[in-house]
Amino acid sequence: MNLGELYKFCCEYYKEHNILDVSEIKIILKYTLGINTNDLILDKNKIINQDKVNEILEIIKLRINNVPLQYILKSWEFMGLDFCVGPGVLIPREDTSVLVDFVINVLKKRVKPENTVNIMDLCSGTGCVAIVLESVLKNYIKNINIYALEKSSKAIEYLTKNKQINNSNIKIISGDVFIDHNEFPDNFFDCIVSNPPYIKTRDIQNLQKEVQQEPFMALDGGPDGLDFYRNITKFWSKKLKKHSINNKNNGVLAFEVGYDQAEYVEEILLNFDFKKIYAERDINNIVRVVAGEM
Ligand SMILES: C[S@@+](CC[C@H](N)C(=O)[O-])C[C@H]1O[C@@H](n2cnc3c(N)ncnc32)[C@H](O)[C@@H]1O
Repeated sequence: MNLGELYKFCCEYYKEHNILDVSEIKIILKYTLGINTNDLILDKNKIINQDKVNEILEIIKLRINNVPLQYILKSWEFMGLDFCVGPGVLIPREDTSVLVDFVINVLKKRVKPENTVNIMDLCSGTGCVAIVLESVLKNYIKNINIYALEKSSKAIEYLTKNKQINNSNIKIISGDVFIDHNEFPDNFFDCIVSNPPYIKTRDIQNLQKEVQQEPFMALDGGPDGLDFYRNITKFWSKKLKKHSINNKNNGVLAFEVGYDQAEYVEEILLNFDFKKIYAERDINNIVRVVAGEM
């Protein structure tokens, strides 16, 4: 089989099985054969070794059983870095880059290279938020301490591997956001960031089949989806520095929120005495980040 025939076969197989996103095929070919879209045009007559054809057919068969592509490939890129993923950990989403960019911009405006900055990533999963923040911010801040707290032992395995493959110095904490706030001193963090579980419990059963293969614990935000926002705000607000970095600003608590949760999360922050509220929109103009400063 040549490359052009293989590509066509895979696209037709996807369509027959109602997998709508055929652009995934290009990702599979890139991953297995190292080829890009140009090669697909220029090298379409290139004969593909049968072992490679079999490997690709195995992958597309798993896809029709709704196994997320990211779990099959075992690796996924987030903001330019590679993260090891698989059953037991949430796959990093493009949406989360709005949160990471927000934190980078807020801190970059405030810091001088000689400052020491402490950041906590709560509900860290693969560690994508903590590790990308570190990789960018270490270029601006000499002393940066990033903590990544996660409860699931399976997710911590991925977090540990991702720390290694990205040569990161983040500090991994195995803990529960509802309990382990006591382990940290008050007035300590310049920024606490979190993409917590935020789906309403009853809505989980209606999610896309692929998403339902991701851990329940990474999705379930309780009856109204807001359990983590309420509890993180309640338990962790006092851990933020009062006069952070430049003495003019206080520490910031920054959340990723579901597409319809922004106003509720703003209300939670206001109820806990946050004075300055920030909201950041994604490319579809939906507020995906709500943050507060005391
Ligand atoms: C929505 S995922 C986000 C993962 C990662 N931050 C990201 O953006 O891809 C939420 C994470 O919170 C973790 N989690 C759930 N309950 C927790 C708790 N009580 N304490 C700490 N982590 C928790 C889950 O295991 C999951 O990894």
